[in-house]
Amino acid sequence: MSPSEKIPPRWKFRVAPAKDVTDADIRKGWDAVARWWVSRSGPRGDVNREWIIDPVLLGFLGDVRHQRILDAGCGSGYLARILARRGAQVDGVDLAPALLAAAQAEEARQPLGIRYRRSDLADLSIFGSGTFDAVVSNIVLADVRRYRRAIREIARVLKPGGRFVFSITHPAFEGPVPGQWVREPTDTERIEERRHLIVDRYFDRVAVFWAPPGKPLIPGFHRPLRDYFDALHAAGFVVARFEEPGPSRKALERHYRVFADLLRIPLFLVIEARNAAGGIPTGPVTADQGSRRRSLRRGLPSRSGAGPRVR
Ligand SMILES: C[S@@+](CC[C@H](N)C(=O)[O-])C[C@H]1O[C@@H](n2cnc3c(N)ncnc32)[C@H](O)[C@@H]1O
Repeated sequence: MSPSEKIPPRWKFRVAPAKDVTDADIRKGWDAVARWWVSRSGPRGDVNREWIIDPVLLGFLGDVRHQRILDAGCGSGYLARILARRGAQVDGVDLAPALLAAAQAEEARQPLGIRYRRSDLADLSIFGSGTFDAVVSNIVLADVRRYRRAIREIARVLKPGGRFVFSITHPAFEGPVPGQWVREPTDTERIEERRHLIVDRYFDRVAVFWAPPGKPLIPGFHRPLRDYFDALHAAGFVVARFEEPGPSRKALERHYRVFADLLRIPLFLVIEARNAAGGIPTGPVTADQGSRRRSLRRGLPSRSGAGPRVR
């Protein structure tokens, strides 16, 4: 066994009933870690965003010049800044004032025309209907308590046919619910000594409190993947693209120890959904509905026209 002083402190996790968590708990949690959060994020975000998530997310968004984009759950705003530098007109909203303050300070230091405002994604009434060409939301929905309402609001503020491009941690494998690595010896931090991942309690819908070493707990939520798909469908979205990003060769060369696990299981997923304005009918298909579905599908990019897969 390794000498105890060599074992780095682990992150803390605690599972609790989702109904006990309030938006105030979420806001306080994020405010309390805002300084830490900002400190680990460079101009391209943290290491997961820079190397794993954003190449796919930005690839799905494509050319954003002259597009009006909402960064929903913008945190300290690094993604809003990337999009503004690429020629988009960007608004950012978040629940946590301390993160927004960091975003606003950066905007004051180097203005890009981004407007950051405090708003719950479940109530985007500061924006009119049909305002945005695209809404982007990077690792946010699993932090949002009223996520169904948030997805409905996102559909409302999008133009018909507008795109909702988002990432979440992969609900099938994230720790501690449902995924836990079995390690041998049990206290090892070496990735080579992670034997396999146990997946269990996938269908639980619970709050998961997490904290980096020495920091206060922040609540998020575990939900099965189908809950997000049901919410998208109910809000009138159709899913156009889905990716489980893994590390590129370059990412592995630069950060092997960080990304080696991602050769075994995906930790994130990225989805592009399209606002089908009016929704897609469910149940048995009548002749009329069939032609409506076909016309809704015509609004989607064809598989071959979707561009190269980004890795
Ligand atoms: C994991 S952070 C991601 C932040 C940013 N998208 C990024 O990639 O750096 C999750 C963010 O969701 C925000 N959030 C949680 N619930 C929210 C809600 N109901 N409305 C708006 N933002 C929310 C948190 O304040 C936090 O900034």
